[in-house]
Amino acid sequence: MTTAATQPPADALVLFGATGDLSKRKLFPALYRMEDHGSLNVPVVGVARSDWNDAAFCQHAHDSILAAIPDAKAAVIDSLLARLDLIQGDYADPKTWKSLASTLRKHKSEHAVFYMAIPPSMFPTVAQSLASVGLNDRGRIVVEKPFGRDLASAKDLNTLLHTVFPEERIFRIDHYLGKESVEDLLVFRFSNTLLEPVWNRNYVRSVQITMSETIGVEGRGSFYDGVGAIRDVLQNHLLQVLALVAMEPPAGPASNHLQDEKAKVFAAMRPIDPTAMVRGQYVGYRDEPGVAPDSSVETFVAARVEIDSWRWAGVPWYVRCGKALKENATEVVVEFREPPSLLFDEAGGPAPERNLVRFRLGKHDGVTFTLQAKTPGPHLDSQNVDVAVDFAAALGMRREAYERLLDDALAGLPRRFAREDVVEQTWRVVQPALDSPDGVHPYFRGSWGPAEADRVICGDTWFPPST
Ligand code: NDP
Ligand code: BG6
Repeated sequence: MTTAATQPPADALVLFGATGDLSKRKLFPALYRMEDHGSLNVPVVGVARSDWNDAAFCQHAHDSILAAIPDAKAAVIDSLLARLDLIQGDYADPKTWKSLASTLRKHKSEHAVFYMAIPPSMFPTVAQSLASVGLNDRGRIVVEKPFGRDLASAKDLNTLLHTVFPEERIFRIDHYLGKESVEDLLVFRFSNTLLEPVWNRNYVRSVQITMSETIGVEGRGSFYDGVGAIRDVLQNHLLQVLALVAMEPPAGPASNHLQDEKAKVFAAMRPIDPTAMVRGQYVGYRDEPGVAPDSSVETFVAARVEIDSWRWAGVPWYVRCGKALKENATEVVVEFREPPSLLFDEAGGPAPERNLVRFRLGKHDGVTFTLQAKTPGPHLDSQNVDVAVDFAAALGMRREAYERLLDDALAGLPRRFAREDVVEQTWRVVQPALDSPDGVHPYFRGSWGPAEADRVICGDTWFPPST
């Protein structure tokens, strides 16, 4: 499924926050890869308040690329550096914006992409300042997450941005939507005929979505302590994954067809019931630099949600995510109902176990079907066997999320970005969780989170990730 661009291709990329952490770790390496693949054909203008000159900026870009890609090719780095320009100045100073407008004129740019890799508090200032020099006329903006802090602030931000840019020129980024493994959920479901007949409440017993990270908030304490796990990843990455697993097939290839189906999933979701949710905080979090010594911000959350639709009513969806957990894994496990016991087997034999379809979305992505096969021996018993595919081995090289999303933003393809109503619906779903900040349950680094998380899963067990 390919979709046509709905807008002209960009003729410049403007990077606000070019000196920041995201630019360093993700955006410059992505730009390098685009340069290497021949898909970067526009000037890249960094904007920074920091007192840097062009040489310092190029050195920073160079070092960022090598830190992420140690075997980066010097010639490719040089071609990328040749595209870079730096606008240095305070965002509150009109001269900064005049200088940006003049640099874009120099490049004869009429359709720039403005990437806001800056703190969310700065999104309104930058959007309005772009308008003050007429740069909102034909360009588009890419807005980083988190998009708002709750439903009200997300709506306010949408309203404000719409005074400057029309919806079709606002690209809300969620890098999970740029991951091949996440996009595969859609393709795998709807291109394998054997799945669709059983992908519903008649056959599916439960769905579990886990995003576990071994790292804590190293280096990002002050950001994280104002956000927490619900806002950092549950409202965006996890719910976007959930929508791809739950949704009906889109009616067509256009971005709006896909967004419409996601919006329907969220509209049918009941807001999180705080009594079906457990928040946790790893021991030692309060000692992290930038974290308040009495912080009650969650670094772990587990919740049970429901989708009140003909396809899913009655099926529990369990989601959990956390920092400083035992393993790095992002997985969706679809658990099917148990089959009848093998009536032709002798009495007393073990009942067949439930089938699982496990989508591995992180490193070593792929799919594993856990099926039943005959246990060798005289009895007609069954046991679990895994039928697994590793996508890297089977499909070869896939591009990184940020590279794909930057490519799309430059090409004017909105499908892998989040639409206004979809983002607002996700905030509606998590809002009660934000409004009821019960205490956080402590858990140890390297565990699977607080034991209280088992309360969410009503007598079942969390499936340990396979990686
Ligand atoms: P940083 O704190 O590193 O800041 C980014 C840049 O913004 C800084 O380099 C600074 O550049 C500029 N900046 C900071 N404060 C202000 C301010 N008050 N006024 C104007 N400019 C300011 O942030 P990150 O790079 O970590 O994050 C950028 C965006 O990306 C955020 O929205 C974040 O939520 C999002 N994000 C980040 C991720 C990450 O891994 N870092 C992951 C996912 C999303 P200068 O002073 O030179 O102008
Ligand atoms: C970011 C969160 O959006 O996603 C981080 O802000 C998190 O806290 C990161 O670590 C995880 O991304 P990935 O691609 O490594 O799973």
